[in-house]
Amino acid sequence: MTPLLPRARVVKQIARYGGDILTHAAMQGTKNFPHHGQTSVFAHSVAVTYLCVALALRLRLHVNMRALVRAALLHDYFLYDWHAFDGGEHRLHGFFHPGRALKNARADFALSPIEENAILRHMFPLTLIPPRCREGWLVCLADKICAVCELAAPAYLRLAAPVAERLARKAPPQAGGASSSFHA
Ligand SMILES: [Fe+2]
Ligand SMILES: [Fe+2]
Repeated sequence: MTPLLPRARVVKQIARYGGDILTHAAMQGTKNFPHHGQTSVFAHSVAVTYLCVALALRLRLHVNMRALVRAALLHDYFLYDWHAFDGGEHRLHGFFHPGRALKNARADFALSPIEENAILRHMFPLTLIPPRCREGWLVCLADKICAVCELAAPAYLRLAAPVAERLARKAPPQAGGASSSFHA
């Protein structure tokens, strides 16, 4: 990935808190939805998660690591191909997909208020209301960095997805309610 980031520690956090999401059938289905350039929604979501966790660890931020991982994985859980016209149903995707992602995520997973806010506000400043938690700001920032990387250098962060997924399958997913504050 990048020499800036401690890869094993980052991937361990993703597998620990996001294993059930990564292996969920609907999330697996996002591999079939193209996102930026040649990157799938799945690979993008994992890359955003990777960067969020890496930044939190590197900067020693006081974050709820479980909420950060889960919100980052689910921030684009809108579950359709936004490039397809589909009768105009996905017009203004940029504005409306956070709400759609939140609705789908709520249906499939139990979300905390931090996770909900981070998913709903990740498109700030395109959508006008900013996140109100540190985790939300991290998702918002990492999302933009990854989008640029994926468009400019497609192979750069895409490598995170298979690594994280492989580890997620090995690590037993953590049951809900274990949201503990993380302090590196
Ligand atoms: Fe998004
Ligand atoms: Fe995104």
